[in-house]
Amino acid sequence: MAEAFNDLELPTDKDERYATVAAEIASVLDGEPNRTARMATVASMLANSFEHYFWTGFYVVDPDKPRELVVGPYQGTLGCLRIAFGRGVCGTAAETRATQLVPDVHAFPGHIACDGASASEVVVPVFDKAGALIAVFDVDATTPAAFDETDAAWLEKILAQAFSAQV
Ligand code: SME
Repeated sequence: MAEAFNDLELPTDKDERYATVAAEIASVLDGEPNRTARMATVASMLANSFEHYFWTGFYVVDPDKPRELVVGPYQGTLGCLRIAFGRGVCGTAAETRATQLVPDVHAFPGHIACDGASASEVVVPVFDKAGALIAVFDVDATTPAAFDETDAAWLEKILAQAFSAQV
């Protein structure tokens, strides 16, 4: 389980590594209904499995302000606390309900620089099993174009497995 995962030697091939981490996440989350615990676990396990992950975490839809995201469980340097729908990469993912793969954050209109070290990012919308948007999952890197379709596809799969399929 979690202890063993920290000692696990992960495959070097990115696709194989995501497959291994996805299976480990599913195993650790099995039987845990608490959403905060599930989010914290996903952020920690992914952040510690990939060298290119610099900031890794959730912006959750604020139940009191449905068009605003508020920071949730994350790993990394201090993140902004709130992001309005439609603002920056996270707000665009929330507004459009679509994954944003951004090779150069400085070229993205309205990008929010929480940490000036961020150069590229991928943001994936997170849905509950009824299809309602509950959060976005944001991963930032300090190098340009650090994420590709492999990262995006696996993140979509891992987030769906963790939050959309939950009974
Ligand atoms: N890059 C994000 C802001 C959040 S952080 O970088 C932690 C954005 O433009 O939405």
